Amino acid sequence: MTRSPATIGLLGLGVMGRSLALNFERHGYRVSAYDPMPKIPTGFPVGVSGSIAELAAGLPLPRIILIMVPAGEAVETAIAALLPFLSEGDILIDGGNSHFTDSERRMRSLGEKGVHFMGLGVSGGESGALWGPSLMAGGSDVAWVRMRSILQSIAAKAPDGRACAAWMGKGGAGHYVKMVHNGVEYADIQLIAETYDFLRRGLRIPTGEIAEIFARWNEGELESYLIEITAQILRQVDDQSGLPLVDLILDEAAQKGTGKWMSQNALELGVPIPTIQAALESRFLSARQADRKLASKILGGEIAEFHGDRERAVGCVGEALLTSKISSYAQGFGLMHTASARYGYHFDFAEIARVWRAGCIIRAGLLEEMTAAFTRNPGLPNLLLDETFRELVTARQPAWRETLRTAIGMGIPMPATGASLAYFDGYRSERLPANLIQAQRDFFGAHTYRRVDREGVFHTQWE
Ligand code: 6PG
Repeated sequence: MTRSPATIGLLGLGVMGRSLALNFERHGYRVSAYDPMPKIPTGFPVGVSGSIAELAAGLPLPRIILIMVPAGEAVETAIAALLPFLSEGDILIDGGNSHFTDSERRMRSLGEKGVHFMGLGVSGGESGALWGPSLMAGGSDVAWVRMRSILQSIAAKAPDGRACAAWMGKGGAGHYVKMVHNGVEYADIQLIAETYDFLRRGLRIPTGEIAEIFARWNEGELESYLIEITAQILRQVDDQSGLPLVDLILDEAAQKGTGKWMSQNALELGVPIPTIQAALESRFLSARQADRKLASKILGGEIAEFHGDRERAVGCVGEALLTSKISSYAQGFGLMHTASARYGYHFDFAEIARVWRAGCIIRAGLLEEMTAAFTRNPGLPNLLLDETFRELVTARQPAWRETLRTAIGMGIPMPATGASLAYFDGYRSERLPANLIQAQRDFFGAHTYRRVDREGVFHTQWE
């Protein structure tokens, strides 16, 4: 049977490329693909070209070509290899986890050649790519107008039926939002891991029971993909030993770097994102496994016994998880608030929350409420100031604080949970001890300070 001509060219047939190709085909868009080293399963129903020239020649003009290769050098190489075969008006999309500054540069340089470049954040892993990812598009608006209906058809659909694919803004806006998604993903994962540690090592609840606690939480306000898979993971038993599989997994967290990019960017822009920083640093500390093993012998790695009311502590830690998560999202949106002005992205925060509702790794019930908050007030400077979130968090303050007191008492580290509360406490403090910092800077370096009672800049000859 002869295939109808392809609509989309795809460069890169790794797991994500193959899954997206199948998703496009299922929605009626024919794909023609190329990969220098294709690993194609038998029966793969997508046309595969023998060369980049053949791929380009087989596509109708203006072409649509999606690059799905690892971020960095591979994207650069792919663009360089494609360029000689591209024509003015073609659309080139990078669907990898590229750094937003690379997408900025690529949009500019390809734009000069008449090629419309789109940096596309794709979230949801292999199954998302296959069944409906969350898509964060940025770059050329011409490309978006042309791609909108195609991307919306393959994207995940939220409970209200809307597609989780949207335009984030020009330049690197799509990859910027994807970077923040990944930083928030690190924080969500870390907060869940700390909660598990509190329950397991602290309250000494068996893993199977913790699975049921997470499953129960997934029925309420904490409902999310990451809580759901945590329950599933904790139920999994190792075939050979009969032990919970999670107990047999080495406690060294790896990473590919997108969470780190968010931290670096926040430092660059001077925006506090302490929960995400704590999540990242916890991965660094976990990776120093040999050091920890040694230190646990020298410093004593034991956890103090819990003597309180177990059921109450479980309830409190669940509330602390919820409030910490809200604080972390407030930080993520806070960073985007500053980035929006700095890079001229003009982010629509309701739209960002909307595309995160389904398909992506951080999809969660709370994102419906976040969408509503930013729809009510598009200029909301901080999520914690929204009435719904303010009430959610303030009502749970006692549980949040009790959990951290208990954890500190037992010796269970909860850095991201603690950072979330400290952010909340710092943000709601009209006065912070930075007056003393300024005084010290002036003392040792004549760096000057401003006063609360008078205009101007002052220096004191400190005695
Ligand atoms: C997604 C994920 C994905 C990310 C992995 C691994 O949205 O589908 O964010 O893009 O690459 O989650 O990230 P780390 O290896 O850095 O943990």
